This record gives sequence, structure tokens and C-alpha cells, in this order.
Amino acid sequence: MIDIAVLASGSGTNLQALIDTPDIRPRIRLVLSDKPAAPALGRARAAGIPTAVVRWGDHAGREAFSEAVGDAIEESGAKGVVLAGFMRILSPSLIDRFPNRIINIHPSLLPSFPGARAVRDALSHAVKVTGVTVHFVDEKVDHGPIIAQRPAPVAPDDDEASLHARIQVEERSLCPEVVRAFVRGELSVEGRKVSWM
Ligand code: GRF
Repeated sequence: MIDIAVLASGSGTNLQALIDTPDIRPRIRLVLSDKPAAPALGRARAAGIPTAVVRWGDHAGREAFSEAVGDAIEESGAKGVVLAGFMRILSPSLIDRFPNRIINIHPSLLPSFPGARAVRDALSHAVKVTGVTVHFVDEKVDHGPIIAQRPAPVAPDDDEASLHARIQVEERSLCPEVVRAFVRGELSVEGRKVSWM
């Protein structure tokens, strides 16, 4: 079994889906946020999971911030990391500390629409289908090996909020599926190819 830390900056609905999955809940050693007021921290506390806050502004830059995040993860005993709406880019040196052990949830079908405006970009391109990608993190943003994807249709009258809500329904079912396989050691990576055992 691989214990995990979950990093979240916002509401934490994906975190909640992990907490609500019996095979995953006991594996969550830590919930870490860069935002002291993140509702995700309240969800962790309510579940009795240890929390930590590492503030961006308390550090000299990305490297120092990432080092502090990595130290907190290691101290918790977690060997894997799930980025569940963590809105900071981590330095390559942190990614090297957890090779193919950091999972990210991204609200588009990568490689389409990487970046922080994925839902808005999908709308402005007027695509008919977008979705969610769960992938391992490498040194480039929203780029690492794809573990799983699920589509979400775009409705003609969608705005960013309605489309994001439809994508998040898929996230909340796909993310626990992937993380359950990960904590059980059932995912293997060769180059860009991820296999489920
Ligand atoms: C999700 O839509 C995820 O795809 C993106 O950030 C959002 C986090 O939502 N990376 P929540 O905090 O899990 O509710």
C-alpha cells in the first residue's frame, strides 16, 4: 500500500471523494494547502486527517516553497501525492523527489487545453466534448503520463460554471478510481505509457 498526501488550494470536492472512499481514506496521511482558509482543510479536519499549511508568501520563491512542501509530505510518511486543485506550480526538484508518484487532476482532455484556464479555453474553442484527465506529474505543466480520461459533453448554452460542474461530476468518480489503484500499487509507468495491473 502507498500512503498519500493530498494537496488542495480550494473547495476540496475531489479530496472529499477520496475521503469518502473506504480503501483510500486510511491511506491519507496529510492534507496540505497553500491557503490557510481553504475549505479543503476543514474537510480534512472533519475526517480527522492531519493538515498542514505552507504559504507561498512565506518563502523566497518557487524552489523554497516546493522544498517546504516536500519536507512536509516526507515528514507525514506519505510516499505519493495527489494534487486535487492545488493552484501552485511545484519546482522540478520536488517532482524529482516523488518520480511518477504525483497525480494531478486536470479539467480537460489533455493534451488539449493545459493551464489554469482549461474550461474557459475549451468553451472559447467551441469544442463539443471536453472532460477530465488524471495524470502523473512531470516537469512540464499538465504534461506527464496520462493515467485515465473521461469525456464530458459541452452543451450549447454552457458557461464556464455549468461546464466545470459537469466535468467535476466525472472528476469525482474518476479520481477515486485512479487513486485506489495507485495506493494499491497497481499502476506502472514506462515512458509515457501507464498500465493498470
Ligand atoms: C478541479 O476542477 C480540478 O480539475 C482542478 O481544480 C479543481 C479542484 O476542485 N485541478 P476541488 O477543490 O476538488 O473542488
